[in-house]
Amino acid sequence: MTRTTTTTRTTPAIGAAMTRIEGPDKVRGSATYAYEYPLDAVAYCCAVGSTIAHGRVRSTSADAIRQIPGVLEVLSHANAPRLAISDGSELAVLQSDRVAYRRQIVAAVVAESFEIATEAAGALEIEYDVEPFAVELKSDDPDLYRPDKVNPGFPTDTEAGDVDGALRSAAHVVDHTYRTPAYHNNPMEPHASIAVWEGDDLTVFDSNQGASPVRARLAELFGLPTGSVRVVSEHVGGGFGAKGLPRPVVVLAAMAARVVDRPVKIAVTREQMFAFVGYRTPTIQRVQLGADAGGRITAIAHDVIEQTSTIEEFAEQTAVATRMMYAGASRRTTHRLRRLDVPTPGWMRAPGECPGMFALESAVDELAIATRLDPIELRLRNDPPTDPETGAPFTSRNLEACLREGARLFGWSQRHAEPRARRDGRWLVGTGVAASTYPARARASKATAWARPDGSFDVELCAADIGTGARTALTQIAADALGAEPRRVRLGLGDTNFSEAPLAGGSMGTSSWGWAVTRACEGLRARLAAANGSVPVAGLAVEVDTKDEIERRAQRPAHAFGAQFAEVRVDEDTGEIRVARLLGVFAAGRIVNPMTARSQLIGGMTMGISMALLEASLLDREYGDYLNHDLAQYEIATCADVPMVEAHWIDERDDFVNPMGAKGVGEIGIVGTAAAIANATYNATGVRVRDLPIRLEKLIG
Ligand code: MOS
Repeated sequence: MTRTTTTTRTTPAIGAAMTRIEGPDKVRGSATYAYEYPLDAVAYCCAVGSTIAHGRVRSTSADAIRQIPGVLEVLSHANAPRLAISDGSELAVLQSDRVAYRRQIVAAVVAESFEIATEAAGALEIEYDVEPFAVELKSDDPDLYRPDKVNPGFPTDTEAGDVDGALRSAAHVVDHTYRTPAYHNNPMEPHASIAVWEGDDLTVFDSNQGASPVRARLAELFGLPTGSVRVVSEHVGGGFGAKGLPRPVVVLAAMAARVVDRPVKIAVTREQMFAFVGYRTPTIQRVQLGADAGGRITAIAHDVIEQTSTIEEFAEQTAVATRMMYAGASRRTTHRLRRLDVPTPGWMRAPGECPGMFALESAVDELAIATRLDPIELRLRNDPPTDPETGAPFTSRNLEACLREGARLFGWSQRHAEPRARRDGRWLVGTGVAASTYPARARASKATAWARPDGSFDVELCAADIGTGARTALTQIAADALGAEPRRVRLGLGDTNFSEAPLAGGSMGTSSWGWAVTRACEGLRARLAAANGSVPVAGLAVEVDTKDEIERRAQRPAHAFGAQFAEVRVDEDTGEIRVARLLGVFAAGRIVNPMTARSQLIGGMTMGISMALLEASLLDREYGDYLNHDLAQYEIATCADVPMVEAHWIDERDDFVNPMGAKGVGEIGIVGTAAAIANATYNATGVRVRDLPIRLEKLIG
């Protein structure tokens, strides 16, 4: 027995701008990412995508390819190991000859080197039986259908009151259709996996947003007990939702390693990032708003059309934020889908809220013009005291404070309501505002806290730090719950050998993991106190599971809110458009780490600039695919496009959401940004762009 002293700290670690713990490792290049684990006798796998959009694989030239020196095996549906699923879904890799979309994985080459695998994959010839395909989303498509629910489990449609009647009798009506294109997630680090089998035990080094769910799915697919699969994901270079679920490559790595009986590594190429790892669905959104003479909304309708694939259903919850944003007695939201011969869409930063709030917040700006009200005043007049659909109280709702503080910081009072009223030489200058919101939820998580005889602590759970700073934030949370200095806490994550935890998604990481970390550390602190601070040589551990506590907690609507302000400059002759300033004010509960939180918010806002002005995956109607599949043709904002982005927040305490009072900041930054820029563009030019991106040809002529 050794005696340890736990000094009670008085300065909280939560709220301090602590730099990323793993920052020096990342800067030095010594942080190991999935593809980089050094393993002996590793082989390389290269996935081969279909060149047709719909049909069957008839035959491949696998036999010829196997003769190439250095090629170990060619996998196709003809010889790939059988998985526990054969339903043709995205993870049923090489389980059938069916091709559901262009560039779906239909074969793979395993070889001694990356170069040989890539070369041989390029030489593989595949014969297909080609079938007709449909890849284009159209609003009048007779095959649109109503899904049973929208992601992750919301009702598909909601309706209250008499929307059409209220619209007919409204003093002011706005009725427009807004469109957003498909978007492809492109984290800096593409998906990558190394799979290693030892007997029937599988270890995978994998880049993902949640190693626990990847382990569970791999165990299921390969018919293994969960305990036989270990997933290690210590450092991850971004995800944005694309790594929220296991993707075909991790399955392929495990399959290939089984077949060649060696460790196998695979990395998704940048080009393949546009093929089979998910994307945001294009949307067609009709928004109708009715208001009385005083600008009080009487009717809201938001009807959405979007796509899914023929092999899985993903229904983005595009209109869900409209259910809680503004007051109005008569209201309707609907979602309709079309199954197309395309890859399955999936999560991308703020699925639902992001495209949906572009439409809603553009329409609200159009209503402000119709009612001749300042857009902030219009929003304040319609800020509901309770959830407008259910009447339930919000845990906290500080949209008003965000709008008012944002207006003050931005200098909103300088604005001219009339479009084209401000210019600076050739530049037309305009400003715009939009609201933002994102739900504040938490999932059950486990966590283990260890006291060590030397007075240090290990806090371990299978959380994911995808570059957000989660490791650092959880260290701060643990330190406060332990009453210890953060430097005495080692935070272990990204390994299924640690306590099971949910994925990094839905801005729930800090809430879900932090909750479990808090309870584990509180439990350990109580144990230490009872033991008078003495710690056995082997250490003292407390593991918790927050499942019961979270289930017991009454559900109440909990959301973060924000207000986005944009100033744009448009060259009157060329239509060149620049975002000169972007300023966001957020009410996101307690901010655990101002440094990493600011970087999340600014990152989201920057992605919003991309969405507003640049990003679009363009459809190739001839071959049935997205045409632009590299970062030269799929444009994203660079430093030159982002001169000034500021994120601020108001002091908000919300003791209901979780023990830390933190609401999550990963996604809200992108919500509303594109609408603020579109609204500012209208103010500058008098041109309303309702289909993103806002490109110069839409502003001139
Ligand atoms: Mo995020 S799109 O919930 O990973």
